[in-house]
Amino acid sequence: MAKRTVVTMPGDGIGNQVLPEALRVLKAVGFEADYVHADIGWECWSKEGNALPERTIDLLAKHKLGLFGAITSKPNREAQAELRPELRGRGHVYYSPIVTMRQRFDLDICMRPCVGFKGNPLNYIRKNRGGGFEEPAIDTTVFRQNTEGMYAGIEWTNPPENVRAALASHPKFKAFAQVPGPDLAVSVRVITRNAARRIVAAAFRYAQKRGFPGVTICEKPNVLRETSGLMEETAKEVAKENPGIALWSTNIDAQLMWLNKNPEEYNVIVASNLFGDILSDAFAGLVGGLGFAASGNIGEEVAVFEPTHGSAPKYAALNPPIVNPIAMILSAAMMLDHVGEAAKAERIRKAIAAVVGEGKVRTYDMLRLAGGPKAISQGAASTQQMTDAILEKLR
Ligand code: NAI
Ligand code: MG
Repeated sequence: MAKRTVVTMPGDGIGNQVLPEALRVLKAVGFEADYVHADIGWECWSKEGNALPERTIDLLAKHKLGLFGAITSKPNREAQAELRPELRGRGHVYYSPIVTMRQRFDLDICMRPCVGFKGNPLNYIRKNRGGGFEEPAIDTTVFRQNTEGMYAGIEWTNPPENVRAALASHPKFKAFAQVPGPDLAVSVRVITRNAARRIVAAAFRYAQKRGFPGVTICEKPNVLRETSGLMEETAKEVAKENPGIALWSTNIDAQLMWLNKNPEEYNVIVASNLFGDILSDAFAGLVGGLGFAASGNIGEEVAVFEPTHGSAPKYAALNPPIVNPIAMILSAAMMLDHVGEAAKAERIRKAIAAVVGEGKVRTYDMLRLAGGPKAISQGAASTQQMTDAILEKLR
């Protein structure tokens, strides 16, 4: 097979610390690739008025495979204030480069595995009937629709007249008809049948591949009758085409309540954008949190893999870096799965499992220490030491 080129986008803050660690691991498992750096994030915004420059889009369009660290984003006022003076007042608007990237390349399938590693002191435990504790093995992957729903980006404060008129054509809008424009904010939740089908079908394919008995659709169709209703209807259609796999249905609120009851019973959950975002963070919290939460944004042509965490600016300047590289390394392993290098991906996960299980090398988050310069002297491993330990297991 031709050698692949991976577009590496470290971004801001700790993105620059964790991405190089993932590259060390990819090299160690013998993944043959060229890497090309691409700019993204706050610095691009401040200097160029665009957090996702065209040259980065071009590289992704060309090579179709990306590894992304994290970016910093700030509220509008700060965004304007931090623009280079000559760019101010020239109509530059800050858009999240991640959201833009997802929409631009239609990276509509977001896959977020939340899989516990045995021996992780951050794993969820539960009281059992005998008064003791048990630690169920959690192996949940959330399939989150990545481009539509509440994050479609169609929203207004003080909606224009024609939008107000359209809203007023709905009987339920009567209750808001007298609200002055500046006091009225509206966000539109959009679900399309095609995108719903693609995300549900991805969840079923994954359940099939892993041999899981069912897929859970987590929505709220009793209230959001139209949008969640379409998700559910589509899920039922896809389920019919996959007779070997059951379809279960939960409501987002109840599902979060059950998180503490039987999380191990949910292996594959599919949801629209906002609900999937919430669910994946909630499940990630049961298996170690941000230091362990990986994700893939997968479209028909382009795919970008990234840890769920942000740029953690308060740790970005620490030397040595202290943040946990595992989320980034697991994201790189997901990339390997995606390009048909499952055996290498599995080797990486096994090496991480061995390090976590052994418990000798732990970053500050795994020790529940306050993050900061003191963490290392309190016994935490640095970012590099964690990677070194993983590399050691790969030898
Ligand atoms: P964050 O994820 O950057 O950090 C939250 C806290 O989680 C950190 O203070 C740290 O205690 C912990 N943490 C994060 N990553 C960790 C790691 N690898 N190892 C150990 N601990 C880790 O979220 P926050 O503080 O809300 O946002 C900081 C910036 O990142 C903001 O500008 C925000 O907009 C941006 N952000 C970017 C994301 C992305 O690039 N995908 C996602 C979330 C936030
Ligand atoms: Mg999130």
